[in-house]
Amino acid sequence: MEPFRQFRVTAASFKSLLYASFVQLQIFLLFGSAIADNPQFYFDWTVSYTPLAPLGIFKQVIVINGQFPGPTLNATTNDILNINVRNNLNEPFLLTWNGVQQRRNSWQDGVEGTNCPIAPGKNWTYSFQVKDQIGSFFYFPSLLLQRASGGYGAIRINNRIVIPVPFSPPQHEFDVLIGDWHNADYRELRASLDRGNYLPTPDGILINGVGPFQENFAFRPGATYRLRISNVGLKTSVNFRIQDHLMLLVETEGSYTLKQYYENIDIHVGQSYSVLVTANQIPGRSYYMVATSRFIIPELAGIAVIQYPGSLTNPIGPFPPGPPPFDFTYSMDQARSIRWDLAVGAARPNPQGSFHYGLINVSQNIILENDMAMIGNHQRYTVNGISFVHPDTPLKLADYFQLNDVFKSDSIPKAPDGRYPALGTSVIDLKYRDFIHIVFQNPLPILQTWHIDGYNFFVVGMDEGNWDESRRSTYNMVDAISRSTIQVYPNSWTAIMVELDNQGMWNVRSQEVDKWYLGQELYIRVKGVGQNDPSTIPIQDETPIPANVIRCGRAGPST
Ligand SMILES: *[C@@H]1O[C@H](CO)[C@@H](O)[C@H](O)[C@H]1NC(C)=O
Ligand SMILES: *[C@@H]1O[C@H](CO)[C@@H](O)[C@H](O)[C@H]1NC(C)=O
Ligand SMILES: *[C@@H]1O[C@H](CO)[C@@H](O)[C@H](O)[C@H]1NC(C)=O
Repeated sequence: MEPFRQFRVTAASFKSLLYASFVQLQIFLLFGSAIADNPQFYFDWTVSYTPLAPLGIFKQVIVINGQFPGPTLNATTNDILNINVRNNLNEPFLLTWNGVQQRRNSWQDGVEGTNCPIAPGKNWTYSFQVKDQIGSFFYFPSLLLQRASGGYGAIRINNRIVIPVPFSPPQHEFDVLIGDWHNADYRELRASLDRGNYLPTPDGILINGVGPFQENFAFRPGATYRLRISNVGLKTSVNFRIQDHLMLLVETEGSYTLKQYYENIDIHVGQSYSVLVTANQIPGRSYYMVATSRFIIPELAGIAVIQYPGSLTNPIGPFPPGPPPFDFTYSMDQARSIRWDLAVGAARPNPQGSFHYGLINVSQNIILENDMAMIGNHQRYTVNGISFVHPDTPLKLADYFQLNDVFKSDSIPKAPDGRYPALGTSVIDLKYRDFIHIVFQNPLPILQTWHIDGYNFFVVGMDEGNWDESRRSTYNMVDAISRSTIQVYPNSWTAIMVELDNQGMWNVRSQEVDKWYLGQELYIRVKGVGQNDPSTIPIQDETPIPANVIRCGRAGPST
């Protein structure tokens, strides 16, 4: 976001500096040492199957270095991460970094439209900077419904030491990864979707990869803990709560929130929250931590235990009560109560509020309406009438190698136009630095979740019914939360605004795996004017194609 931008010299911008004016060279000489300030970290991750039975039934679980969930990626703002992923599965594999904004570097996004998969038995090194970000995120396998068998893990991006965190340091931080779980193998679930069936109801809910009463969190009386909670599941929203403890919400997906206490929080698929919990209850006892399913029958529960010193038994008393399972109004009111803390800085010293998004003129309006349709005898999910299918070549590579027949930009209308549902490869061309207003319209009686890779956006409004221009008067143009995954309630709409400050080919998708797998996605191609034109430098260019890029399809090695 422009007003937050500071001038920092990175290795990636060195090339453009070669073209730069004398003045910029002076700046380079002053700040050139900043290159050394961004430390590089190296990770070796091996992805393989291991039989595990989190709910009592064994299946092949995808583990990373033998772990499920995979290792926590613990980084600090501006670190450069090199993650060498070795694929020991018998299928192609990619990881994507949910909510991490690879600046100008969609080459590292790890989705089917940006990367060729890592073939079985091969390895590939992701290399990206966690630039100008803080917060709680997670990674997961993006291909072939593999997330149904694990392969996910937490990502923390910590504040640099010079940027204050807007609360006292907690005693300890815990990752809490919550996800619905099927005992069936992901290949079986995938085959079922391929045959045109729905995903079955999940068999349960896992917390940190294990079933009820398997995960414990040790609390010391009087101490305060930060829980970094993500919904890593396939499609089930959850309500999260802790018996006899309030949660102070402080962060969501890289934004510091206005601090407010909650008894329970709805967390939809793909979303992450940080809460502070103070151990103010009775030593010698233990307490339930529960995550119950929302909006499905029967209600499922993930259960972990918070233990104070000396507690020998399981928690006593009833489960902490949650909202009624189908109370959408409760959920929407709660979502509206989550707001941006304008007074504090996130990854930069400037307060978040100094961005004043409400004063920026909107350059373009887009309405994206999800729906379901039978296409060629198969149940598919559509966006503005188009159900996404992947061409044989990732869009990013097709774009780079100028393979003009892989996709056509603007093949999807920017608002629903009543067309007959069809398969297609939807790419919307957008201009770097434009400020865009997007309405997600949901005409179905089921909840939707939308995510944009490479970006955070302002959630300016949501309500029941059909969106129309009059709804703009209800928007929060002051302290709407900025995040990367948002829900759209049944027969409702959600409106967002986003500054296109990150060039690249970016995935826009349903976070629910079945809808994503069956076509509810599109890509936005964000390009600068005069990009690739040296006369207009210093307009920031995209990061060059990685030296180790995997080529496939029509961008394959033989072409
Ligand atoms: C994560 O990284 C931060 C910053 O380097 C460090 O202070 C912290 O101890 C690390 N946490 C873990 C669990 O490794
Ligand atoms: C594969 O791993 C080896 C080390 O195990 C490394 O040297 C090589 O660069 C990796 N290949 C890619 C494409 O990242
Ligand atoms: C927004 O548009 C109005 C009317 O066209 C114009 O007067 C104003 O300067 C614009 N504001 C910005 C920040 O560009």
